Amino acid sequence: MNSDAALELITVSKTYGQIKALDKVSLAIQSSQFVGLLGQNGAGKTTLFQLLTGLFNNDSGQIQVCGHDIRRHPIDALSSIGVVFQQSTLDLDLTVQGNLKFHCLLHGLSRSEAEHRIASELERFDMTAVRYQPVRSLSGGNRRKVELIRSLLHRPRLLLMDEATVGLDPESRKSLVNHVISLCKERDLAVLWSTHIVEEIQQADRVVVLDKGKILADSSPDKLLAEEDSGVSLSDAFLHLVNLNKTIGVVHGHAC
Ligand SMILES: Nc1ncnc2c1ncn2[C@@H]1O[C@H](COP(=O)(O)OP(=O)(O)OP(=O)(O)O)[C@@H](O)[C@H]1O
Ligand SMILES: [Mg+2]
Repeated sequence: MNSDAALELITVSKTYGQIKALDKVSLAIQSSQFVGLLGQNGAGKTTLFQLLTGLFNNDSGQIQVCGHDIRRHPIDALSSIGVVFQQSTLDLDLTVQGNLKFHCLLHGLSRSEAEHRIASELERFDMTAVRYQPVRSLSGGNRRKVELIRSLLHRPRLLLMDEATVGLDPESRKSLVNHVISLCKERDLAVLWSTHIVEEIQQADRVVVLDKGKILADSSPDKLLAEEDSGVSLSDAFLHLVNLNKTIGVVHGHAC
């Protein structure tokens, strides 16, 4: 195990009946690294996030967050993680402040510290004006920003974003990606950003391609392009890898 890594997975597997949602996945992410996790529908991205956040247990393999084994020291591991799930988990009837405060109290922050952190994060994201509005009244983009703010309040070392830009227009999507990239560098945050929109991770330090539960590639966007030699774009390289995996599955008689 690499104890300096913000996140380390060693041969992690998870099955649902006959489906191998994750198949011996190994991966390490260091502080300040923005890692894009690219995979088509059903690739296993959300399953990975569910294991990393302790919602489900892996069948085999090891997961460490900032050196804490998620099974043996779940509180230490989970308190180092901030997460924005694919499905929104905000309480729509509470105000922005109410949602954020609830999160701070769950993480054991004092009321005064919670107030201070909420005010400064809202300001950073230019969201102070909506502080006392019910979340239901916010646009999709602003709701996602609230989720991002909430995920940062307890000062995590590892930020997990599972298709965080779903439903956003291209401009809001770009703005959210840029916010997270700058946070990653400013605060030494390790980021795992899952998506199937290739454009979102053009600026990533590394791109991990997941397909049918297996990692097909793990390298910088530039290297991936060079290795795949598949034409002009990262999107082409991704599709080329996934299609190649499909062909291999057919040749070996795998149920794909
Ligand atoms: N609770 C579950 N019970 C049974 N099968 C599941 C469950 N959760 C996921 N799966 C299966 O595991 C595989 C991986 O699903 P997962 O949701 O992790 O993919 P994903 O990459 O997040 O896809 P998407 O891009 O559509 O969100 C799929 O075949 C899915 O049907
Ligand atoms: Mg998913």
